[in-house]
Amino acid sequence: MLSKVWQQPLPQIYNELSESELRLRIASAKETLGKRLAILGHHYQQDAVVEFADFVGDSFELSRAAAAQRDVEFVVFCGVHFMAESADILTDESVRVILPDLGAGCSMADMANLEQTEDCWETLRTVCPGQVVVPITYMNSSASIKAFVGEHGGAVCTSSNARNVLEWAYRGGATPEGLQSADNGVPPKILFFPDQHLGRNTAYGMGVPLDQMVLWDPNKDLGGNTEDLLQLARIVLWKGHCSVHQLFRPEHVQQVKEKYPNMKVMVHPECRFEVVQQADVVGSTAYIVKQIEAAPPGSEWAVGTEVHLISRLAKQHPEQKIIVLSDCQCLCTTMFRIDLPHLCWVLENLISGNVVNEIKVDSHTRKWATVGLERMLAIKGSGNPMQKDQPAGTTVD
Ligand code: 13P
Ligand code: SF4
Repeated sequence: MLSKVWQQPLPQIYNELSESELRLRIASAKETLGKRLAILGHHYQQDAVVEFADFVGDSFELSRAAAAQRDVEFVVFCGVHFMAESADILTDESVRVILPDLGAGCSMADMANLEQTEDCWETLRTVCPGQVVVPITYMNSSASIKAFVGEHGGAVCTSSNARNVLEWAYRGGATPEGLQSADNGVPPKILFFPDQHLGRNTAYGMGVPLDQMVLWDPNKDLGGNTEDLLQLARIVLWKGHCSVHQLFRPEHVQQVKEKYPNMKVMVHPECRFEVVQQADVVGSTAYIVKQIEAAPPGSEWAVGTEVHLISRLAKQHPEQKIIVLSDCQCLCTTMFRIDLPHLCWVLENLISGNVVNEIKVDSHTRKWATVGLERMLAIKGSGNPMQKDQPAGTTVD
């Protein structure tokens, strides 16, 4: 398993440098490291960090970008811990993946651990004999959960391809029993973790009624359900959520609609079901970016996702009116931990021959998580989990 290490305090000098000094030093370190280094940055990173990224994308795009890094020695991942773990899994053993601040975790990923997952799995097998369960985990989960799904015939998904991954799972996923059960007319059940909202929104968009979905609370017997409910459920949703996207509420949509009648509301599928139902457009981070890039001047958007991305889009598109769906602080505090001092510190250490903050996944976890992640990369998506007629295999590109 991963050895959990806490972030050590930075040498004082990095906190004393001005922003312009940090920029100069980072630019110079990048130049010195040259082709030995690739910096990947998630769309939710602060502008100052994005400026130094060689590639910016959402989770799905960054996974592909990581998998494509064949000739570099170091990938500095400006995102959160689960993303850096996936980058380590998808890159060759010789590529060393670095997370500039080890405190950049994800509260959603922390809502499901392996022990709870194994308990849930055993319970479902006991309570639902003869039914095939295909486990699917959102990218936003630990490497051990990704390995669990890989080992049990399931896959990882991101918000970009969740719909196509669920369709694949309902066809039996990668389990021989699943394929048989689909043939026998008993469709497999999906166990989806850790984001209940992405699971619910996606399954509902595919036509699964709400009364055939159950919520699994890992702290309750039978996850807080009856045996009957578990047997009837077509999808079991883990009780997890994103603390940022859950801040958006239906009243925010109503307020925007009243104040700006021409404004379209566009939200990420990590938002609550009621918000997604009222929104005009729903899509992954990459999908949101593409919608705005393609919109004509004068378009008006209230966007329900992380504030750094929305502010950047508003700056890049002054010809459109782009606001945050609510006035709450919709900031991912862990993404925000990656800043110029930490970036400068890891790069200058690399130049001195010290690899600090390396993220390394153990070989057993790596083996099975690779299986789950490669299934994910093979199943592309349109980025829109609510789209009804999405042909399998379409791509966000
Ligand atoms: P995507 O990058 O898949 O849209 O996920 C959003 C998110 O919450 C990342 O942490
Ligand atoms: Fe986790 Fe939400 Fe932050 Fe993404 S935005 S890293 S899901 S807390």
